[in-house]
Amino acid sequence: MTAVVETIAALRAQVRAWRAEGLKVALVPTMGALHEGHVSLMRAALNRADRCVVSIFVNPRQFAPTEDLDKYPRQLALDLEKLERAGVHLAFTPDVQEVYPEGFATSISVGGPSAGLETDFRPAFFDGVATVVAKLFIQTEPGLAVFGEKDYQQLCVVKKLCRDLNLPVEILGSPTIRDAEGLAMSSRNAYLSAHELDIARQLNKILRKAASALEGGADEASTMAAARQAVLDAGFDVVDYVEARESLTLAPWQKDREGRVLVAARLGKTRLIDNVEVAAR
Ligand code: PAF
Repeated sequence: MTAVVETIAALRAQVRAWRAEGLKVALVPTMGALHEGHVSLMRAALNRADRCVVSIFVNPRQFAPTEDLDKYPRQLALDLEKLERAGVHLAFTPDVQEVYPEGFATSISVGGPSAGLETDFRPAFFDGVATVVAKLFIQTEPGLAVFGEKDYQQLCVVKKLCRDLNLPVEILGSPTIRDAEGLAMSSRNAYLSAHELDIARQLNKILRKAASALEGGADEASTMAAARQAVLDAGFDVVDYVEARESLTLAPWQKDREGRVLVAARLGKTRLIDNVEVAAR
């Protein structure tokens, strides 16, 4: 049975009681609209910890005024059923006042891996993510937290946040869950029409082709240019970026290091991101 708490005090009381019993607690932070990708994060958490807490909070601080905060899918009752089926022990579902009370005036800004990529198009995004994730860690005090590799830059930023602030939380990155045709699971896929879904399903194939070209020694600039054109030819309207980066630091990619090819592209009103691994040569 998944217990539900809405206040930080109730969350802390439950987690501290578990920790006093010597139980390891894992946190999976989410914004709800849960899908198979989220469930895989919960499974990873439950495999490594005795208790799993899932937070469901649509964080206004990571949305720009022009973005989809109001439209973002909210389906708490359905989400709670999914938590129940996944065997999650506790859902933390605070409202905005609980997380950002009147007068809240602090923001955390992580350097390093937040440079470029998403930040070039969503300048306030990682400050919003880092601030809410740090708060969730301080509120929950988990031993472990699980994040999806689908939001690869976010995963690197959260790891850096913990390292730089000495937050005693182990961060586990969990592989992206995809549909049969390779489309990465995302809450924003719900915005796509049937025609747009067909287009979106090309994205991962294009990335994999680019990654294997790099692994085979192809020139980076021309491979990225070809991938960008392929995304447009597939039917996307705008490519925000398609870039190869080093997988640990997100510094520019070096042929002898493990890398990632990361993409963000817009299809109608929906912005999709994805990434794939590039093996070191
Ligand atoms: O990945 C997400 O859903 C969000 O960015 C997170 C980590 C829950 C912070 O709001």
